[in-house]
Amino acid sequence: MLFSTMLASVALPILAAATPIDLERRAGGPAIVPLAANCTLMNPLPHASQHPGNGTISGYVPSSSFSASKVYSWYIPQPDFLTREARWSNCIEQCNGYSGCVSAYMAYNAPLPKGWLGLPGGELEVGCFMYNRTLTPLDFVAATEGQYVNATAGNVYCPKTASASATASSNASAAKSTGTTKKKPVKVVA
Ligand SMILES: *[C@@H]1O[C@H](CO)[C@@H](O)[C@H](O)[C@H]1NC(C)=O
Ligand SMILES: *[C@@H]1O[C@H](CO)[C@@H](O)[C@H](O)[C@H]1NC(C)=O
Ligand SMILES: *[C@@H]1O[C@H](CO)[C@@H](O)[C@H](O)[C@H]1NC(C)=O
Ligand SMILES: *[C@@H]1O[C@H](CO)[C@@H](O)[C@H](O)[C@H]1NC(C)=O
Ligand SMILES: *[C@@H]1O[C@H](CO)[C@@H](O)[C@H](O)[C@H]1NC(C)=O
Repeated sequence: MLFSTMLASVALPILAAATPIDLERRAGGPAIVPLAANCTLMNPLPHASQHPGNGTISGYVPSSSFSASKVYSWYIPQPDFLTREARWSNCIEQCNGYSGCVSAYMAYNAPLPKGWLGLPGGELEVGCFMYNRTLTPLDFVAATEGQYVNATAGNVYCPKTASASATASSNASAAKSTGTTKKKPVKVVA
């Protein structure tokens, strides 16, 4: 599944949401880089196959141990002015533009961490988390009731070499098995 660049012009609200602990990354934030046509995006959320198309899943969030692999995140106040599809394109394409990022997760009703932008924390917003590790269904845990709803997630698989491109872009099971091994950083396509 590929995402087009429907959102290339809406990065500004995201940059405004950078956290103090992300200050060094805030300079510009991750660029929105559309996935190359030969890349594949796969949804690692539990039960994702039962929700094809634009279906979402509520109540699962990457575990706190997986969060050690978080490389960037943003929060946007609700209600969002963008559609979920557009916001998600933004999230995953920023991951694609961030060196080392290979997966992303986005959900509504994501509680702000304590101290984010000087706020007490717990405010429910749209959250996008980007990781340098591939997500699997086992990396998710059940969320507090009502939180992390309408979630979407994706692993980005891009071919490294010409010989790898045929399988990575057309053979889903090959891409999936690659995902269980250690991933190299996503190639950034300028
Ligand atoms: C998913 O959303 C996109 C953008 O809104 C739309 O073009 C597409 O038809 C939808 N696909 C499904 C399976 O609903
Ligand atoms: C992944 O990101 C985490 C958090 O920023 C960092 O500590 C870790 O070294 C990174 N791992 C790799 C393989 O880049
Ligand atoms: C989740 O999606 C449903 C169905 O589209 C929608 O009615 C609901 O408002 C969404 N919830 C949030 C918090 O965005
Ligand atoms: C994948 O597509 C990008 C952009 O079109 C291209 O630069 C790159 O060489 C391709 N990679 C492979 C392995 O074909
Ligand atoms: C896809 O990859 C799997 C695992 O490598 C292989 O068993 C299968 O034959 C491949 N299917 C196609 C259509 O190439």
